[in-house]
Amino acid sequence: MNLRVFDSLSELAAGAADALLDQLGGKERQVVSLSGGSTPRSMYELLGEGARRENLERCKVIWVLGDERWVPPGDPQSNATMIEQTLFRNGLPSGHQFIRFDTTVGRPAEAAEKFEADWLHAGIEQVDLAILGVGDDGHTASLFPDSGVMEVDRGIATHVFVPRLDQWRLTLTLPALRSSSRKFVIAAGASKKKVIVAACRGEALPIVAVTGEGGESWWLIDKEAYPDDPSL
Ligand code: 6PG
Repeated sequence: MNLRVFDSLSELAAGAADALLDQLGGKERQVVSLSGGSTPRSMYELLGEGARRENLERCKVIWVLGDERWVPPGDPQSNATMIEQTLFRNGLPSGHQFIRFDTTVGRPAEAAEKFEADWLHAGIEQVDLAILGVGDDGHTASLFPDSGVMEVDRGIATHVFVPRLDQWRLTLTLPALRSSSRKFVIAAGASKKKVIVAACRGEALPIVAVTGEGGESWWLIDKEAYPDDPSL
């Protein structure tokens, strides 16, 4: 497992932001999928301002949302809203695109179909860099274990009801995420230790299914999340 350990969440955020910029540097149009959740928030804030923002403006990026909760735009749970308030709080850089799930359409299935149409219209073939979070149960994006979504083995986006959250979710599919050329898993806090150990052991978890195949994966974590087991 390619692992970088940072002393604190703020150093992790800075390291992850700079690693993303290194990936984008100088290339033609890049496709980056963005994780929701709380961990990447500080990384997105750093990318949304100052020299890092200026660096982003020299790139050409199609940003795609990795997953979304079935909530209206502006809802505190909305991943797209969180990203607009952090990464794009000074607006979307000129020439960039942000493809999100439209949760104002009638049903979750329609939102997934519309996302896939937008993705195809943008001419996207695959994600160049996937920014991923990981849940304590090993989910990533909204690929939750035991939800049936891991069996969706075709297409770009799908919808899934997550009983433990009592919530519909929209997500990139396993094939869409797994085929990313490069993956950064961002994890922080002691609550992530167990899932990191499980991932090191190659347990059958969604995060392992996504990172275990396809392009190179890196785990960027803080010291709190570093497993106590030195053998790992
Ligand atoms: C979401 C995310 C999800 C998240 C993990 C970790 O919509 O919630 O995409 O996959 O990355 O649940 O969340 P935290 O970063 O808040 O621990």
